[in-house]
Parts: sequence; C-alpha cells; structure tokens
Amino acid sequence: MSVGILTSGGDCPGLNAVIRASVFTGSKLYDLEFVGYRWGWKGLVENDTVPLGRPQVMGISKQGGTILGSSRTNPFDFGGVERVRQVMEEGGVDALIAIGGEGTLAAAQRLSAEGIHIVGVPKTIDNDLSATDYTFGFDTAVQIATDAMDRLRTTGDSHGRCMVAEVMGRHVGWIALHSGMAAGAHAILIPEQKTSIDQICSWVDSARSRGRAPLIAVAEGFKLDTMDDAHSERGLDAFGRPRLGGIGEYLAPMIEERLGIETRSTTLGHIQRGGTPTAYDRVLATRYGMAAIEMIREERWGEMVALHGTDIVKVPFSDALGKLKTVPQDRYDEARVLFG
Ligand code: F6P
Repeated sequence: MSVGILTSGGDCPGLNAVIRASVFTGSKLYDLEFVGYRWGWKGLVENDTVPLGRPQVMGISKQGGTILGSSRTNPFDFGGVERVRQVMEEGGVDALIAIGGEGTLAAAQRLSAEGIHIVGVPKTIDNDLSATDYTFGFDTAVQIATDAMDRLRTTGDSHGRCMVAEVMGRHVGWIALHSGMAAGAHAILIPEQKTSIDQICSWVDSARSRGRAPLIAVAEGFKLDTMDDAHSERGLDAFGRPRLGGIGEYLAPMIEERLGIETRSTTLGHIQRGGTPTAYDRVLATRYGMAAIEMIREERWGEMVALHGTDIVKVPFSDALGKLKTVPQDRYDEARVLFG
C-alpha cells in the first residue's frame, strides 16, 4: 500500500516529527510505502512529489518547518476531487495523510465525502481547533513568547517603561493567555474579551504605582470595546482573511498619552512559528503521526487524530470544524485576578 503525506496551511514546529513518525511506523510495522506531496494541496493537484522513506526522515523531529513545504492552496480551486483522484491513481497512491489546520481539514472532509481515502492530523500554533485539547506547535509558540516577554521585562525594568508584547492568535487568545501568565504580564488581552482602553490603563497604572515596569500581552486578534474588527493594515491573505498584526503598536501610543509612561511595543509575528519544537510538541506530534498510521490500517477515512487528556483518540473531521476552541470565561477570570 502506498500513502501520500502533505502539510498544508501555516506551518508550525512539529510537522516534521509527524512525518517521521508516520513513515517510521508505517514502513517498520506494515511495509507501507510513502510519497511526499510538495507545498500542501498544491503538490497534490500538480503531482509534485518527493520520495519519502526512512532515509529522508531520519533525525528530522527536531527540525522546525516542514521538509515537504506548505501553502494555503485550496484543492477545490484546482480541479477538486477529480484531479486529486486522477493524480493518486496515476501515482498508485491509495490513501492520504493531510496534516493541517481548519482550512486543510475542511478540504480533507470534502474530499473524503467524495470517496478519497484520507485521514487527518491537526496542527496550529493558535490551538483553536475543537475536538482536540492541544495541537502541536502551541507549546513551542508559548515558550518562544514567554522567553521574549522575560526579555522585554528586563529592558522594561531598566527604563521604567510599559512594554507591550503582541503574540499570534487570530480568533483565540490561548498563546497570549499562557505566555502572559507564564511571564507574569500585568494584563492579557485576547480576542474573546473586548476591553476598554480605560481598563487597560488602570492595570498599567496599578503596576506602575507598585514600582513595576508594566507588561501587557496582547493577541493579534484583540479588539478594544470600540472596535468592530481586529486591527489589520496589510490587506487580505489567499483565503480573503485580513492579515492581522499591529494592535500592540496601535495601543502603545494610547497608553503613553493617557498615563505619561513611555511605552514600547514588540510584535513577535512568525518568530513564534519557527525553529526547534519543544520536547512536548515533538512527543505529541510523534504520537499523532503513529496514530495516523493506525487509522489507515483501520480504514477510518474521514477521521483525524486528537488529544483528549493524555490519550490519543480518533474523531470525525466534522468534530473539529465549524466551531473554534475559544478561551473559556473561567480561564480568563482566573488569569484576570493577577492583572494590574
Ligand atoms: O493560523 C496560524 C497563524 O499563525 C495565525 O496566528 C496568523 O494570523 C496566521 O497564521 C498568519 O498567517 P501567514 O503565515 O499566512 O501570514
């Protein structure tokens, strides 16, 4: 049996660990053969392949990015199920492992409904997919953001400045919540919780009055209570979604003007998606990659692997789609006790 693997959507640390685990497990236990599709769905519809055997995946779990490349291509814009079926048949490929986020899994669900043999592995640093407690890449992003905030605190302390750290998180604030809490931020601003500038300034002022250099963690998708949409000045992405980024720079002068405290903002951006995955992410990604092979063996087409507690489980694509895993009110209230 031959299995095609592709990584699609925004990359994240741990993708290579999934690829390695699937290829190792599949070839070692079941004599499966593998082929890699380059640049996500793009490589599938263009039949752009690379050989994928044990020599190609040796030692790659510690490597960031994806050895296959990724893109935000939608296969339904390039021939859809007919083209996918044709390419798979011509290449003798019997099943696919699609590793990706919501967009990738939505395309996989449609293809599966049309009879393509496909299983999914969820990934996103944002950790916003329902049906799984954690996606790999999230832990690494939180660690990078925490390290950055620790550094911002020492320079903030040196100058008595307010430091704003903007992290990723388009629709949900998990990265901001976890890294902000880990770094002891004086306010954590997330997309799920619109907040007034007066409230933000009151937290900043309270920290300053105790002699601290205030630190604010803000997710890119955060909105002030006066804003309808998230801050975006860089047009649209391939899916027509606004490119986010810049809310920290937007807030900093407002804080400085109202409180008279020198304020600086740093946007971490794609730094959070790059580099070596943490041990936690490597282990989760490896377990996902191994479980994907079990799904293929069990012919569980249209399903994906997920983490429930510490158990790897298998769930239908539909469980992960259509509903985001937002930060629940009680998790925000818990963090908020420590603001100011
Ligand atoms: O979905 C993950 C994510 O990193 C978001 O947090 C961010 O808004 C988006 O991807 C950035 O996408 P791109 O790499 O296409 O700019």
